[in-house]
Parts: sequence; C-alpha cells; structure tokens
Amino acid sequence: MLLRRWIAAGVVAVATVGVLSTVPATAGRPHDPADQSLRALGLRHGLYVGTAVDTAALDDPDDPRYREIVRDEFSSVTAENAMKWESLEPTRGRYDWAAADKIVATAQRNGQRLRGHVLVWHNQLPTWLTDGVADGSIDKAQLRQILRQHITTVVSRYRGKIWQWDVVNEAVSDPWDDPPTLHYKGFWAQHLGPGYVADAFRWARAADPKALLFYNDYNIEAFGSGDPADDKTQFVHDMVRDLLARGVPIDGVGSQGHLGTQYGNFDTFQVADALRRFAKLGLATAFTEVDVRSQLTEGVRAGVPDEINPRLQASAANFHVLLQACLAEPRCLSFTVWGFTDRHSWVPGWFDDPPEGLATLYDENYQPKRAYQTVKADLIFAGPPYVLPRVTPRPRR
Ligand code: XIL
Repeated sequence: MLLRRWIAAGVVAVATVGVLSTVPATAGRPHDPADQSLRALGLRHGLYVGTAVDTAALDDPDDPRYREIVRDEFSSVTAENAMKWESLEPTRGRYDWAAADKIVATAQRNGQRLRGHVLVWHNQLPTWLTDGVADGSIDKAQLRQILRQHITTVVSRYRGKIWQWDVVNEAVSDPWDDPPTLHYKGFWAQHLGPGYVADAFRWARAADPKALLFYNDYNIEAFGSGDPADDKTQFVHDMVRDLLARGVPIDGVGSQGHLGTQYGNFDTFQVADALRRFAKLGLATAFTEVDVRSQLTEGVRAGVPDEINPRLQASAANFHVLLQACLAEPRCLSFTVWGFTDRHSWVPGWFDDPPEGLATLYDENYQPKRAYQTVKADLIFAGPPYVLPRVTPRPRR
C-alpha cells in the first residue's frame, strides 16, 4: 500500500512511502538505483510496471530465467492469451480455467497486480461462436445473451482479483480500413451494432464492483487532425466522453503502445498531451502492451552492428517517450510491456513480411538491452515537481 500526502510549498514536498526496500522518489539521491528492479523503481512513483506472460514459457521447466524475471522485475502481469475467449471456452459451455487460474495464482504469490485481458474482442473468438453466427444457428438476440453470459462468468470468477479489466478491445477501425472514415469495426459491431460497448461495461461492472474497467486500443498514443473521421485518438476520446455522459461505468483508456522504429512516432509532449486529455475526462490511463519492433533486414540478421545499433537505440527511445509521458501524468497507472524478451515475443510470428523483431527489453538470452536501461533510468531520474504520485480513480458505478 502506497500512501503519500503532498504538502507543497513551491516544489518542496513531503512524502511517506510504504514500500519497503524502495527508495521514495522524494528522498534525494537513490542509493545504487541501477541495482533495483523496474518493479521497485516504478513503485517509487506508485507506477505499476507490468508484462504480458505467456503460459507455455511460464510452465517450461527448462526456462527458469523467464519465471525469475517475471517475478523480480514486474509488479503487474497480463495473460498474453490465457484469458481470451477461445482459450477459456474452446467448447461451448465448457470453460477451461487452468491456464488463466495459474497466471492469477502465480501473480498473487509474487505480490503482483493483474490486468485482465480481454472480455470483448473480435479476434481469438472460439469457432463455435463465429461459425454459429455465420451459419445462422446463433441469432442476434442469442449472441447478445451469450456475450452477457461470457462477461458475467469470467468477471465473476476473478472478482476481487483483477485490478484493471480490458472490457472492450480494438473496437475502432483504422484509416487504412474500408471505408476509411473511422467507424466501429469487427464482429461485435457488425452483429450487435455499437451499443455492445456500453452493454459490455455495464455487465462487467455488475459482476465486479471494484475492478477498474478499461477501453483498450492501438494507435491512440497521440492526437492527429482532431477530426474523428480520420483521427483514431479523437474518435476514441469522443466515444469514451459519450459513454461517460450516458453514465456508463468506464474508468480508463488503455493505449497499447505497439510501435515500430520504421515509423515517425511521437515525442513525449504529444503523448503526454493525449494522456492528459483522457485524464481531463476523469479517466485513468495506462500503457498496456508496449513493444517497439524493427525490421530484421539482411544486415540485422547477419549481425552487422551498423544495422543493429540504430534499431536498438530507436527502440529504446520510443520506450522512453511512452514511459516519460506516463510518468508525467498522475492518472497513468501502469506501464505494461507485451512480453519482456525477444525469446518470447509475438512480433516475429506476427509481422513477417518483411520480418520484424527486436521489440522487447531483453534479448533472446535474457540480456537486458538498451531499452531496459533506458526504462530503468527513466524510473530513477524522475520525481517531483514533474512526476507526482499516481491518482487512482474510484471505480465508477
Ligand atoms: C497477441 C498475442 O501476443 C499473440 O500470442 C496472439 O497470437 C495474438 O494476439 N493486441 C492485443 C493482444 O490486444 O491481445 C494481441 O496479443 C496483440 C495485439
């Protein structure tokens, strides 16, 4: 439990911190901070540093380093796949909780918080569901009922154990979709209409009064034109503002943070501004799936330093921008990476034309990369007056 009260006189602040062995951000120079974990250093600010965890890696007896780093470096975990619908209910009506339960139990043993991922998404749905809708054996009214039942069942099982739930994931289209005007996309919008978003939050709240309920999406790190027709961040901003206006119990917006070094990306001020605008609505924010991938050119694959070094540096710089912006916004509650090692990262399997990788904090042999040191340095060299303790909202009724 972290308890801080600020008595501000200019930039003078008095803080008390209840985390043992963690040097408070206000205590002057930290002692040997580079020896501390990301977990301890994040908690100096009340910030939870998290990672996605892969069930197979967590279970692999020959891969103890994976478990050690999860345990030692992170204060929050997200199941990378184990809580998705296809994993939980592969056969209709028969839930298999084993993998998800194991992640929850491990996190509890490690004293870590949990992000629940994910209740409503158009991907990784069980085939019985998508086939049933396609062949007409599940009609619209039944589909809505099935969704309600799923949310209620999953949220109830982990009631009181999940800190933040990703209730709805990736509901909004991208400018490269057809039509290019931003819209509610995918399976749920197609079959239920956009009203499913509000329903999902209400059903989740009914099943857990205390979890923080998040909308989660990618490419919302910064605002663009300000026109919701082509600015996804603006579209999401307006969507959550309207949900709040209608009394829908939403507590936060998760920005995934999947970046690539080949793109222009953003600076700290642009990202901090986006977080602030969500905070102004009274919402928490979080970075929920950060990784910064690079193209694996022939030179990279051959180990040519001139090709590898600029990519590792650019990756670190992008981690830095997102983390610094999060630190600067007291309502940015957690910074979660989507896997911490290139040994177990979704990037090479997903982005293969051209091949991409090098997206995480540690290399394939669990050696910390420049990105790890950058994240660590950011957590060390941050403090008041620009970085203040976190402000956690009360779950909205
Ligand atoms: C990814 C997983 O990392 C992969 O293992 C899986 O094959 C596909 O999904 N946005 C999300 C995550 O919200 O759930 C996705 O995770 C990555 C993109």
